[in-house]
Amino acid sequence: MKAIETLYWSLDPVRPDPQVLARAGKILRRGGLVAFPTETVYGLGASALDPRAVARIFEVKGRPQDNPLIVHVAGPGEVAGLVEGEVPPQASLLIKLFWPGPLTLVLPAAPHLPPQVTAGLPTVALRMPAHPVALGLIAAAGVPVAAPSANLSGRPSPTTAQHVLEDLGGRIEAVLDAGPAAIGLESTVLDLTGPVPLILRPGGITPEELAEVLGEVRLAPGAGGEPCALPRPRSPGMKYRHYAPRAPLLLVEGDPQRVAGRIAELARGYLARGKAVGILAYEETAPLYRLPEGRVSLVVAGSRDNPRAVAAALFGALRRLDALGVDVILAEGMEPRGVGLAVMNRLRRAAGENVEKV
Ligand code: TXA
Ligand code: MG
Repeated sequence: MKAIETLYWSLDPVRPDPQVLARAGKILRRGGLVAFPTETVYGLGASALDPRAVARIFEVKGRPQDNPLIVHVAGPGEVAGLVEGEVPPQASLLIKLFWPGPLTLVLPAAPHLPPQVTAGLPTVALRMPAHPVALGLIAAAGVPVAAPSANLSGRPSPTTAQHVLEDLGGRIEAVLDAGPAAIGLESTVLDLTGPVPLILRPGGITPEELAEVLGEVRLAPGAGGEPCALPRPRSPGMKYRHYAPRAPLLLVEGDPQRVAGRIAELARGYLARGKAVGILAYEETAPLYRLPEGRVSLVVAGSRDNPRAVAAALFGALRRLDALGVDVILAEGMEPRGVGLAVMNRLRRAAGENVEKV
């Protein structure tokens, strides 16, 4: 891939400069790629109506062709033009309650959408992000914006503009920097095309919150992050190892004290074999590790009592452990409830087969 110059703009997250948004919007309209902040993670945007621009997203990320993109809109009024038929009442209700915000809705796709966006599926994923820069950019572009997370495929999603530049600097036209993403994990993806609403990916809007509004809602097989045995998962993105740091990650789940005990034991084993070890722990259990000074990198990702803070810290913590050059990451599991389910989904998928229950 030929290197290009990546323009970098730093913006006020609350009142972004309209002139910068106008310039970035023009880049999108002309088929360029612009990375931008959202409340969940940074996205890599292209005009959803431009098949060539969308194809470049797949190219620069190294994304598998069969993994469709989320189309981002600046307001609920844009939904009707992107779906086939009427907007279902359930969708309208969820939009009213949760947009703008970290909820992506899968609906029947309007026929004019390029197949590159939907990966040839008859459905489209739609989201209105809750970030003034994202909303201003989409409005300035004047087109719906297809955007996956702005990372190289398989790597942890970017929660800062720095992460974006690490992965995609020199490959995309521009990056808008508005500081760290508040939520830190990608949106909840909810499929409304079947008989029962199905959570394809847990995120900032929890199953508990959705159940309160919808009555019945199910977790798709694999959405907890456990390896998906189905030959054709509903969300193509579920079948790949994902969110993964470079070092292999071993996840230990169970009672917090026992988890810490097992991780300390594993760490000693790796140290004895001369490996550099990284540990991902929470505030409650971090003091339990009494390991040789200087030979273990301990990264604390918030408190177990506050899964939202863990979510916000998680991807940055994984990237930090990579930057420290560890050979292996030993990660503590947490309770898969509320936003904790989204955290565990990302950790389990980063671990792949390497999950131990104690
Ligand atoms: O928070 C987010 O959702 C971020 C920000 C940038 O908005 N975006 C994001 O995009 O996480 P991406 O591409 O990394 O993840 C999109 C997920 C994938 O798992 C994909 O398979 C699924 O949504 N998806 C997209 N379109 C779909 C469809 N029509 N049916 C089922 N799943 C779909
Ligand atoms: Mg992604």
